[in-house]
Amino acid sequence: MTPLVPDDIEFELLLEAIWQKHGYDFRQYARSSLRRRMEAFLQKYNLASFSHLQYRILRDPSFFGRSLDEITVRTTEMFRDSFFFTALRNEVLPILQTYPALNIWHAGCSTGEEVYSVAILLMEAGLYERSTIYATDINPVVLEAAQEGRYPVAKIKEMTKAYQQSGGVLPFSNYYTCKDDVAKLNPEIKKNVVFSTHNLATDESFIDAQLVICRNVLIYFDRNLQDRAVALMTRSLSHRGFLCLGSKESASFLKAKVNLEVFAKDAKIYRKL
Ligand SMILES: C[S@@+](CC[C@H](N)C(=O)[O-])C[C@H]1O[C@@H](n2cnc3c(N)ncnc32)[C@H](O)[C@@H]1O
Repeated sequence: MTPLVPDDIEFELLLEAIWQKHGYDFRQYARSSLRRRMEAFLQKYNLASFSHLQYRILRDPSFFGRSLDEITVRTTEMFRDSFFFTALRNEVLPILQTYPALNIWHAGCSTGEEVYSVAILLMEAGLYERSTIYATDINPVVLEAAQEGRYPVAKIKEMTKAYQQSGGVLPFSNYYTCKDDVAKLNPEIKKNVVFSTHNLATDESFIDAQLVICRNVLIYFDRNLQDRAVALMTRSLSHRGFLCLGSKESASFLKAKVNLEVFAKDAKIYRKL
């Protein structure tokens, strides 16, 4: 066995320290991208090595809160991948029409753009009143922003375009009001959304949902953790429920796929068997 170089050992010990001290388990995240983010973090705080970062994370109580936001990737957009939202609108929602009440779980919801995109689709399909959306993330900082539902006015043009590309035909301005540089989503869009922390690496199932959406989260996990997360989400689906993954993600190679069939291949939508 080739011995690890000191940097590698320090990196492994750092992940172990975060787990033991703070209960966040990054040990099964895809190594190279996690390490790149941690290296950028070292630079930002002018820390000489992973051991110095470990010292701060173990000894400075407020430091880990700030680090969590740097370790995770929060990139998101409204109606990101319009083809996915078109498939959801045209193929999945007509089937969900047959349910008297709907539970929807958004795992890894970041700052809420994707959650509110789905809320808008549900409103337009006449399903929102009977829906509860549980939107979860590991990072409390993004959840706070998501709850606000306030986005820069500069993004409205791009959001409107994405809404239209996904098949939206109403004026997108129906959904927000602008004040100064901020577009605030209308309260009706937010009223059936419940935000909460939940960690796909360590927490259990808490819901029986007809639709689970977890897009662009599994790419940060290694194969074992992807398997855990997909198994957990599949357990959280009711009979014939739908699981939606991101465009670069797939359940096809995972052990957990045994309870799933492909529903819309390109849109990465699966259905529980
Ligand atoms: C790139 S964003 C994706 C946001 C949104 N789903 C989308 O596709 O637009 C990834 C999100 O996953 C969250 N995340 C990372 N690890 C997680 C975990 N173990 N459990 C739950 N959420 C996690 C991050 O905090 C981040 O908000």
